[in-house]
Amino acid sequence: MFQKNLIATFMLLAIMIVATACDGDNPETKETVAHAPVDKTDNQQKKMPEAETDHIRLPEEHLQKTDQGQAVKTLQKALNKVGYSIDRNGTYDDVTTWAITDFQLQQQALIATGVYNESTRRSLQKILDENQAIKAGAVLDQPDNKPDTVDNPHDILALVNKENRLPSDFVPRNLTVPDVRFPFEDFLPKKQMRKVAAKAMEDMFQAANSAGLELFAQSGYRSYERQDAIFASNVRKNGEEAANKFSARPGESEHQTGLTMDVTSPDVNYRLIKEFGQTDEGKWIKQHAAEYGFIIRYPEGKDAITEYQYEPWHLRYVGKKAATTIMEQGITLEEYLGEA
Ligand code: DAL
Ligand code: ZN
Repeated sequence: MFQKNLIATFMLLAIMIVATACDGDNPETKETVAHAPVDKTDNQQKKMPEAETDHIRLPEEHLQKTDQGQAVKTLQKALNKVGYSIDRNGTYDDVTTWAITDFQLQQQALIATGVYNESTRRSLQKILDENQAIKAGAVLDQPDNKPDTVDNPHDILALVNKENRLPSDFVPRNLTVPDVRFPFEDFLPKKQMRKVAAKAMEDMFQAANSAGLELFAQSGYRSYERQDAIFASNVRKNGEEAANKFSARPGESEHQTGLTMDVTSPDVNYRLIKEFGQTDEGKWIKQHAAEYGFIIRYPEGKDAITEYQYEPWHLRYVGKKAATTIMEQGITLEEYLGEA
């Protein structure tokens, strides 16, 4: 009896030892332990922020400065993922414009405009899908909100005026001579515009031509130094107070952006005078310029905001979306950007 009990106790002990040893290797048991309290997947997610693990499908629509909403938020999330530490506040603000512009400046296939368009979407989606990173700010410094300075002159919605000056060394990229009529033959730097604006100007001239009009381009890009000379000459001829109403000081002229062209017609002897607004060409411009992305930058009766007198000839490229709103509502770029 005693022997039987001893054998039973011994067998029980042996079973317990084997069971304990098996426990250590039991995958089921391991998984249970791993799940609670710290699970492996959870650990991985902690190493990478949420934005880096999700697949981001970029918005299809065209987005630009002042736009708001979920699409902008998704774009900001994508910019976070490729390396731009910007707020996901759902507003296409100066910082978002900076990130898009800096990204565009780093992609050979893109033209820097600050606007999120179809070609920018395709490039950014490729970078996202290939899990590549961008060196944020490698080409363009992040805006530091210094008063009176234009931080991002590549932005087609950059506000240049007496309160917002371009850096003296800013020369636009992609300057080119648009294939339009000029009242003079020889090449002069003032024939040039930035490519994006030059193409729009060509389309506009073609349409004006088809409407039987004789539009001429007179003066586009001017360097900081050229504007300095022009302003000084206008001061000599008219005095400083008068010059200030129609001529910009260096750094304060939109002509330095390469987004502007003064246009005229034979009816006013190719001059830049307010009577141009009453010519067929001037009237057509007022009605149709926005369809090509241009605005009359210094409209009649808005000199308290623009600080320049009426200039029906001075066209500024801002893209079709902004131009349509500005011209339909009869407002200035300052008002459109909430900076009036
Ligand atoms: N006429 C405009 C204001 C300029 O000089 O840029
Ligand atoms: Zn002008």
